[in-house]
Amino acid sequence: MPKDSSPGQATRDPSTLDVDERWLEELGPGGAPPAGSVVEGKYRVLRPVGHGGMGVVVLARDLRLERDVALKLVAPGRLSESTRELFLAEARAMATVRHENVVQVYDFGEHLGLPYLVMEYVPGRSVAGWLEQCDEAGALGPIDEALGILDQVCRGVTAVHDAGLLHGDLKPGNILLGPAFRAAVADFGFMRQRGVAKDLGLIAGTPAYIPPEMAVGDSHQPPDAPADVYALAATAYEMLTGELPLPVYDMLSLYEVHGRGDRPRRPSAIRPELPVCFDDVLLEGLDASPKTRTQTPDAFRRALITARDSIAHARSASVGARVTRVVVADDDEDFLALATESLRHAFPGAEIESVTDGIAALHSLEARPASLAVLDLDMPGMNGVELTATLRGGEVGAQLPIIVVTARGGAPDWRLLSALGANGFLVKPLDPHALVAMARRSVLGSGT
Ligand SMILES: Nc1ncnc2c1ncn2[C@@H]1O[C@H](COP(=O)(O)OP(=O)(O)O)[C@@H](O)[C@H]1O
Ligand SMILES: [Mg+2]
Repeated sequence: MPKDSSPGQATRDPSTLDVDERWLEELGPGGAPPAGSVVEGKYRVLRPVGHGGMGVVVLARDLRLERDVALKLVAPGRLSESTRELFLAEARAMATVRHENVVQVYDFGEHLGLPYLVMEYVPGRSVAGWLEQCDEAGALGPIDEALGILDQVCRGVTAVHDAGLLHGDLKPGNILLGPAFRAAVADFGFMRQRGVAKDLGLIAGTPAYIPPEMAVGDSHQPPDAPADVYALAATAYEMLTGELPLPVYDMLSLYEVHGRGDRPRRPSAIRPELPVCFDDVLLEGLDASPKTRTQTPDAFRRALITARDSIAHARSASVGARVTRVVVADDDEDFLALATESLRHAFPGAEIESVTDGIAALHSLEARPASLAVLDLDMPGMNGVELTATLRGGEVGAQLPIIVVTARGGAPDWRLLSALGANGFLVKPLDPHALVAMARRSVLGSGT
């Protein structure tokens, strides 16, 4: 069964239950403990933050360490000896991976017979929420934002594979987005050892992200890294085009579509502003055969970067000539040094001026025309938002390409800045290649 396609349909099998009745009575619909209840004397429940096929996730306070945590509890109706074991296996799998882009597990326990796992709380939403928000706004998510998220997800999945595991259930709902665009892979409920046969004939996961070989392929060939690559590429396809690669909505259509050998449409045919160089990257990640598909999440990540950079490089010669003066404003000396160095290298002959506060930046930009401004979000005098708004309101800055950089900002800042007319948004620590690529695109896009 696709586990997330049937929430709430679980029937309770009392013979397998060994949960204290008092606790069962306390649990709300779906198995969420009410706010205020204290789990094993250690975690005070604050509020629900999500639910999936297995149970609920609540925000809680670790009363000893005085920090927020996320608690995942199996819904009582889903509890059996095998789910108890699977749940422990999920916690152990998470515990073997330590990576910035993988949700960290802290603890595992049982409260009155109901197992729960404790993990770092990632405030924000999942990529599924990101897709919904873009959809509600009537637009697709910005390509740069999608690529920034995907880059991190690929790094996280690489760490999972390096630990000898397959995630097995990659999809938008299992990728969490925290502050400053941090993406973290969650939900190890379908994790398995790489290349090891298990549960032959049993397919688990959400149909649209299940690779064809798991549905109609050689069931004796145990899945390895390319199986996760398929799910990653399906997620990337959805983030970049707003559509699933194939019309797979349930198990029946999964068998039908892959049985017929249907292939996804070229992404650029769905979203014309998506450069065609992304078509092959996404379609190779979604190749029906695990042998010819992109083999690892890192290869997929590098292919996405190459596609992104090739757009900039293809036109860089003409862009380079247009960049005569760049103003970089940031109160962080290390950032200024790295940014000016990379821009000097990328635009030889251009004057690169660095200033350490917002007012100085405004004066410098008003004094002489510039081809580009790179502004810190948080700096003395005038912050990046105020400065962008002021520049866009005046004559000198109306057409100026503006990139804003931040160590802390997140999606709301980016939306505000893009509404104000900023051309790009980058997160620190600075990736000099990303800055140069964005600088080239911003100059091109501005038509100056
Ligand atoms: N560590 C976390 N911090 C914040 N929210 C989380 C966390 N883990 C899960 N969630 C939320 O709960 C939802 C379900 O969690 P998940 O682990 O995917 O459960 P399931 O195995 O039931 O699908 C996620 O989509 C997300 O919205
Ligand atoms: Mg999930």
